[in-house]
Amino acid sequence: MRRAPLAPYPALRLRRLRQAAWTRALVRENVLTPADLIWAMVVHEGEGLAPVASMPGAPRFSVSEAASGAREAERLGIPAIAIFPHIDGAKKDAAGALAADPDGLIARAVKAMKDAAPGVGVMCDVALDPFTDHGHDGVIEAGKVHNDATIERLVEQGLMQAKAGCDILAPSDMMDGRVGALRAALEVEGLPDVMIMSYAAKYASAFYGPYREAIGSGTLGSGGVVNPPDKQTYQMDPANSEEALREIALDIAEGADMVMVKPGLPYLDIVRRVVETFAMPTFAFQVSGEYAMIMAAAANGWIDEERAVMESLGAFKRAGCAGVITYFAAGAARLLGG
Ligand code: PBG
Repeated sequence: MRRAPLAPYPALRLRRLRQAAWTRALVRENVLTPADLIWAMVVHEGEGLAPVASMPGAPRFSVSEAASGAREAERLGIPAIAIFPHIDGAKKDAAGALAADPDGLIARAVKAMKDAAPGVGVMCDVALDPFTDHGHDGVIEAGKVHNDATIERLVEQGLMQAKAGCDILAPSDMMDGRVGALRAALEVEGLPDVMIMSYAAKYASAFYGPYREAIGSGTLGSGGVVNPPDKQTYQMDPANSEEALREIALDIAEGADMVMVKPGLPYLDIVRRVVETFAMPTFAFQVSGEYAMIMAAAANGWIDEERAVMESLGAFKRAGCAGVITYFAAGAARLLGG
């Protein structure tokens, strides 16, 4: 882009354009709308809404509350909801056997939501961690998360979700090759229209802490299995940026329709690089810890909740995101006038 030379002060006074609301509106570069939001929602087997201590205002939803949520999303103009399961600890095992249960919580939630609001997209997390007793996203063999054995399970899980009516499969496990395996399996099963949004550049982050409470995946290392203390053998090193571009390129080549960077605000530099490098719809996930930080500071009266929420969501748009996955979606859409 060619830029005109800047006139020197006082001919140039950038504050002129900021002097009134109407002129600020006139020159505003980015505008957030409800259509930019994907509502992150944890679902549970129980009744009603179950509060999550570290995520005030973002409780777990029962299947019927999730269906009401889908109707609410439709009313508010939120295009899609991403669901994540909270599973009873007693139902978990080392292999995450229930991840592909066609009568399980996720299948029931997807069906109820699509029945309630067929025009709202439903996105499912493809990952084993809600279902494994050790909390890892994969099958453990010889003390390691086994890539290829995990992919087989992820394909079963993804196909179950697609058959239940899920519109977007969102693999969040960070195994190598899982997008290609899912895409190939969808073709074979006659489900070519199911979309894939890959958690392509997902970092081993401290900001997922409250989510582990929300889905009940607890402390890694439980379940009698000796594990690495965290997910660093499969999620990315927060120090890396070039590697994110390689991850994104691979997932696009394997058949991802949309790509995601996660977490959100601390990684907007990655979002920007991805947007500028690939002509792909790029999303970011404002994760549980980001949500919790805003809510905790607001609860203490240290920041203004509404302004902090809207400013943070606007930052994703400014960075170039097509949309944001966020626990704030419904509240933000209401603030936007819904
Ligand atoms: C797991 C998964 C995680 C999140 C979404 N899917 C956590 C993790 O990788 O440990 C995080 C969501 C959040 O923190 O809001 N596959």
